[in-house]
Amino acid sequence: MANWLIYGAYGYTGKLVVEEAVKRGHKPMLAGRNRAKLAPLAEKFGLEWRAFGLDDGAALATAVTDATAVPPFDLIFHAAGPFSRTSDPMLQACLKSGAHYVDITGEIAVFENTFRYDAKARDAGLTFISGVGFDVVPTDCMARYVADQLPGATELELSITALGSASAGTTNTMLESMTALKKGSIVRRHGRYQHIPINATRKKVMFSDGRARTLTPLPWGDLATAYRTTGIPNITTNMQLPIPPGMVPFFGLNRALMSIAPIRKLAQALVARQVQGPDDHTRQTAKSYIYARAADEAGNFAEAWLETIEGYRLTAVAGVRIAEKIMAGEAPAGTPTPALAFGPDFILEIEGTKRFDALPDDKVMGRH
Ligand SMILES: NC(=O)c1ccc[n+]([C@@H]2O[C@H](COP(=O)([O-])OP(=O)(O)OC[C@H]3O[C@@H](n4cnc5c(N)ncnc54)[C@H](OP(=O)(O)O)[C@@H]3O)[C@@H](O)[C@H]2O)c1
Repeated sequence: MANWLIYGAYGYTGKLVVEEAVKRGHKPMLAGRNRAKLAPLAEKFGLEWRAFGLDDGAALATAVTDATAVPPFDLIFHAAGPFSRTSDPMLQACLKSGAHYVDITGEIAVFENTFRYDAKARDAGLTFISGVGFDVVPTDCMARYVADQLPGATELELSITALGSASAGTTNTMLESMTALKKGSIVRRHGRYQHIPINATRKKVMFSDGRARTLTPLPWGDLATAYRTTGIPNITTNMQLPIPPGMVPFFGLNRALMSIAPIRKLAQALVARQVQGPDDHTRQTAKSYIYARAADEAGNFAEAWLETIEGYRLTAVAGVRIAEKIMAGEAPAGTPTPALAFGPDFILEIEGTKRFDALPDDKVMGRH
């Protein structure tokens, strides 16, 4: 059986990944920086574990290669974020030790950093894929699906609505990302990232549950990955604003506060104590919806809708499937996106997922 390691195993999402891996018959080694949190989890599942931090590059590379792992790890599943702080040391360790790499980031800067490893990963015959979770597997597959139907498309819109709540890790990563939103929200125009005011262009989007939602452009990992997947130069990712519209004028103040390290750390500590993440019932029952539309300059367009499972459950299920495919030699070397590696239909392999080329008649009423 392949030999792999899950880092950040005791985090909210890490635990879901461990459960999914065990359910599918794997015996990954568990890792993280806190042995007191790691040991009971590993014991519960009868798995080996190893505690190490990410701060000392040489020690990290050794931890990833050596000791009980013979032969060295085939793959590292990185679940410890914010990845802006944790991903690069792990990528370097994987390159040094010859292990494939996946993570569950949604952070644009992290995707761009992973892409910079493309040539080195190819030379080493390794696959490094960032974003094997809800961000960006379903949207990346949908981006490729509509782009494949309209060669020459110049515009891509991805609209996302995820029902259910966020974990502490996601909330903290959002707080971390807020400081990067220096001039408002972000879209991609003419191949480049461009800032636009928060809440500047709101629109109603109809999803396949028959409900229209008011969305606004917010930065999502696809601004990096869908560009790599499709080459479409103008990309907008729409979501529901996570704060009430009346709070938008205060966004700049929030961002300024979050850029002060002690205040951000205090806020993150409060989040870690207060925010629990979706419970088991929500993970089993909530749904996520995506609408994708590619258009060209002549006014032609291709569109599709997706209904899939709750985001954290999807992250564990899709992430483990992708790890399996990489270890089975089914992914190209380098830094492909999920849809470049496995095609637009990969998302349909996830239980509870349906794709529609048109809205069912009973869902079309009130479409905008
Ligand atoms: N792609 C997606 O759709 C998706 C889905 C779910 C989660 N995520 C992302 O995944 C990350 C984890 O989310 P979560 O819900 O599992 O959060 P969580 O419960 O807060 O867990 C975070 C984990 O990361 C570890 N960690 C954080 N900073 C670290 C560092 N500098 N060195 C080593 N370990 C570190 C934590 O260890 P300690 O307890 O020792 O600090 C913990 O194990 C977040 O960035 C979140 O945004 C993405």
